[in-house]
This record gives sequence, structure tokens and C-alpha cells, in this order.
Amino acid sequence: MAKISLQITTFLLVLSILEPNFSGATPHRFLASCEPYDTLKSDKTLKCDAPDVCCKAGGVYDLYNCSPPLMTSTPAIMTENNFADPADTGGPANCTNSYPGVNEKVVALSTGWFNNQKLCKRQIKITALKTGKSTTAMVIDECASDAGCDKEHSNQQPCRNNIVDASPSVWEALALDPDTGEENITWSLL
Ligand SMILES: *[C@@H]1O[C@H](CO)[C@@H](O)[C@H](O)[C@H]1NC(C)=O
Ligand SMILES: *[C@@H]1O[C@H](CO)[C@@H](O)[C@H](O)[C@H]1NC(C)=O
Repeated sequence: MAKISLQITTFLLVLSILEPNFSGATPHRFLASCEPYDTLKSDKTLKCDAPDVCCKAGGVYDLYNCSPPLMTSTPAIMTENNFADPADTGGPANCTNSYPGVNEKVVALSTGWFNNQKLCKRQIKITALKTGKSTTAMVIDECASDAGCDKEHSNQQPCRNNIVDASPSVWEALALDPDTGEENITWSLL
């Protein structure tokens, strides 16, 4: 008996190291993923620079304050953003309170990954699945998953929870065409 109970204790200890939020009482948390905490309803159709993600009257959009867990190489969807253009970003970058130069390799991360500015100015490495190419970029802004459909967010829908929104120079360095709009990538902190 004592041996089994030691094994169980060891198992729980290992689990709690692997998953800091793990508590024996709620084992399902171990498998919990990032779910929306609410939805946002848009009452008007808004014009924006990215037709696919402009808010529409009657549109209902998920809101997230979490993102999928960070791994040594985290899968994500890359979108395109011209951070140098005030009309495209809704305002200066949150980390720098300024607009970057047109040739800078910079990104915005979904709210959960941005983590209240904790990743501000960190360099990340991005690898494109399609081309196999990698590049680096600096985190300068949040891609809000918890807000949208207003001027501050360029009249765009809230970001999904797994977005790396990248400047044209990042797309170019990865040999990808920004006109495709979205590409699968992995990224990691440097
Ligand atoms: C960055 O975002 C935080 C939280 O929304 C806000 O309080 C702060 O004013 C923003 N800073 C800049 C420079 O945009
Ligand atoms: C990204 O990966 C998903 C799942 O593997 C796939 O369905 C989708 O078509 C891919 N998107 C692009 C732009 O390659």
C-alpha cells in the first residue's frame, strides 16, 4: 500500500510540476485549452483596411484573454499588418508608443501571448511551414483578442487567440506573399 501511495504522490508531484495550475480536485484542467470568455456583437458594418476581418452588423465574435500554451516551437497563424501606417493599426504600437519604420521586422501577438506587455520588445524567431524559411522579429504590439470593432482596433474583428500579426518585411524574409493573408507558422522566444 505504502509503495502505491508513494507512486501516486510522485505522479501528482510530476503533474503539478508540468502543469502549475494542476490540482488533484480538477484533473480536467490538465487538458484545458484556451476557450472564449465572452462574445462581442457588432451593431454596425464598419469599413476597414482588411475586408476579411472588418466588423459586420450582426456579427458575433469570440473574445479571448488566453492563448494556446507556449512551447519551444509554438504553432500560430501569421497575418499581415502594416504597422507603419496609422490607418492599418489604429494607433502607435503599444510597446513603443510609436510607429515603426516601413522596413522593420515587427509583430503583434494575440492578447494571451502578449500577456500585458510581458513580451514587449522581445525578439522572436518565426518559421514558415510553406517555405521552411525562418526570420526574427520584435514584439511591439498586441493583437487584441479581447476587444475589437472600434476605432482603436481599426474597425477590425477581435484577433483569434493564436495570431502573430507581422509587418510586410517579415513576410518578405519568409519568402511569403502578404496577399495570401494568412500562413501557418511556428514561433519561439529568443
Ligand atoms: C498599452 O495598453 C495598455 C492596456 O490596454 C494601456 O493601458 C496603455 O496605455 C497602452 N500604451 C500605449 C502606449 O498604447
Ligand atoms: C494551415 O494548416 C491548417 C491545418 O493543417 C490547414 O487546414 C490550412 O489550410 C493551412 N493554411 C495555410 C494558409 O496553409
